Amino acid sequence: MNPFVRRGGKLACEGVALTRIAETVGTPVYVYSQTAMERAYRTLRDGFIAARPKHGFEICYAVKANPNLAVIETFARLGAGADVVSEGELRRALAAGVPPERIVFSGVGKSPNEIAFALKSRISQINVESAAELDVIDTVATRMRRKANIVLRVNPDVDAHTHAKITTGRKENKFGIDFDIARTLYARAAKRASLRPVGLACHIGSQITTLGPFGAAFKRLGALVGDLRASGHTVEKLDLGGGLGIRYKDETPPDPAAYARLIATVAAKLDVKVVVEPGRFLVGNAGALISRVLYIKTGRNRRFVIVDAAMNDLMRPALYDAWHDIVPVEAPRGKRTPADVVGPVCETTDIFARDRVLPVLASDDLVAVLSAGAYGAAMASDYNSRPLVPEVLVKGRHFAVIRPRQSIETMLSRDTLPPWFKPTRR
Ligand code: LLP
Repeated sequence: MNPFVRRGGKLACEGVALTRIAETVGTPVYVYSQTAMERAYRTLRDGFIAARPKHGFEICYAVKANPNLAVIETFARLGAGADVVSEGELRRALAAGVPPERIVFSGVGKSPNEIAFALKSRISQINVESAAELDVIDTVATRMRRKANIVLRVNPDVDAHTHAKITTGRKENKFGIDFDIARTLYARAAKRASLRPVGLACHIGSQITTLGPFGAAFKRLGALVGDLRASGHTVEKLDLGGGLGIRYKDETPPDPAAYARLIATVAAKLDVKVVVEPGRFLVGNAGALISRVLYIKTGRNRRFVIVDAAMNDLMRPALYDAWHDIVPVEAPRGKRTPADVVGPVCETTDIFARDRVLPVLASDDLVAVLSAGAYGAAMASDYNSRPLVPEVLVKGRHFAVIRPRQSIETMLSRDTLPPWFKPTRR
């Protein structure tokens, strides 16, 4: 569902004109459609319901994609769990009402404090990424007299055919445990009084646009399940990660129902309960970054549209050469000509689009950078001392600020001076 539609020429999110939001909240601003998020969740959930995985399924929203409390709660209200990668994300999930028994803790380096907090919160499982981490979980759990449900995240060495910087399942990537080591570690964990190994996990990358890589990874995982069972271990759960792609430009990502069917087949064949950790699929197309054109600058052989949003607000183009559609908020006008859409940050990579053919734009026009709901606000920084951008949630004809614009005062107040500066300060 594309929640950004033209009404009387002007772009709206659901029933709210983006010009209204821009005038009320200012720009740049992230705008999300609650209905689009709910639809994406229901589409995936209904796909799973129809595919009927043998021992049920759990959809754990990957909080990192968009950690705003209102976003997490949108999914929590629909019954979602959460996939978190830090104590901060875990606290967000709990604060948004996700039941602890539906929370999985992923991530390649969890600190002892984070592990203790996870155990104290009685979350569903901790996904272990190394032998060293397994030992720390054991130590912390023993000290706390808790039994930790653990899942070994393995590295299936499968190419996800996505951008190299968001590939995680090759053996040269830092993620997951090598298959041979996983066998030994599972056995080691099974012997520890404070650990209960309940299954395996994998996550091979993000923005995956065909089912092939998923199938290849699940197959490899299945072989390992067979080995472990042959050695007498219990494997009751498979956490199959996230990664389901969306359309930014002209991609044809897999049908969520087909993805769910593939997973249900795995569940039936291996007799396991399945968990998935979608992030981008649930929020990506539900959000846009609204920005105002500051200036048009005509170079010798290039035209630059300088907007008030920048790479610190939306990192994806600078970091992954990601393509985001950019459209005028007002009715498009004039002859379409190529331009570079750039931000004010002092970096050459602060470019949202290069040589993009766009309708005529002038100072004060609003543009929407589409499909920015995932890994947009989540990855924003205040580089160049640009305050963090506000976020707005739209539902039908209503909209609400779900994170106000950071004030410059707040930004400055974070810094503290060393005591030896004080006497000389006016
Ligand atoms: N589970 C784990 C263990 C993950 O590492 C990730 C994403 C997910 C689930 C969710 O994946 P998704 O369904 O969203 O593809 N910043 C990058 C994407 C980084 C993804 C990191 N891990 C981007 O903007 O494209």
